[in-house]
Amino acid sequence: MIPEPAGVRLRPVTSGDLPWIFRMQSDPESNRMAVTIPRSAEAFDAHWKAVLVDPNITARVILLGDATVGLISVFQRDARDFVGYWIEREYWGRGIASEALRLLLIDVPRRPIAARVATTNPASLRILTKCGFQIVSVQHAPATDRFPACEEALLVLEC
Ligand SMILES: CC(C)(COP(=O)(O)OP(=O)(O)OC[C@H]1O[C@@H](n2cnc3c(N)ncnc32)[C@H](O)[C@@H]1OP(=O)(O)O)[C@@H](O)C(=O)NCCC(=O)NCCS
Repeated sequence: MIPEPAGVRLRPVTSGDLPWIFRMQSDPESNRMAVTIPRSAEAFDAHWKAVLVDPNITARVILLGDATVGLISVFQRDARDFVGYWIEREYWGRGIASEALRLLLIDVPRRPIAARVATTNPASLRILTKCGFQIVSVQHAPATDRFPACEEALLVLEC
């Protein structure tokens, strides 16, 4: 039997997690939902080599019982804290991302925290607004090497 979200815990990411995180974040359906372009293996390795030694990044594995089911992190862009998360597809729809975000916001008390979400991703918008984030703007985000062009909402949790 798979435990319910009450069994959700967070722990730091280690280098041993990187193979399954790479596999999880290569899933085409997940990338369609997040409106992202998966990193190549080389880009992924370089990205995580930097992340694992960056004191400004809080990167956590999401555990459900003993199973590794996702990733959640706070990172900085333009001197501002942002949150991001990703759940293994087979675990979607069980309240895991919502609970992981609630736990991370206890771990990381800094505010404000922001998030950028494609407006075509209602599940992610719902997770954030349940935790108190508010949409402060919606704009066209041009394509980059990591993101196809999309309409994107900026959400902020002020306190
Ligand atoms: C988005 C994602 C993190 C959601 O994870 P999850 O564990 O399934 O999310 P939860 O079960 O905690 O919550 C999803 C919420 O969205 C709601 N939801 C799901 N699909 C929805 C839809 N089409 N329209 C409106 N609400 C929707 C659910 O009902 C739930 O809200 P509720 O608790 O009020 O019922 C997961 O699908 C994922 O990892 N996707 C790929 C990566 C990604 O999109 N990351 C976020 C980038 S901003």
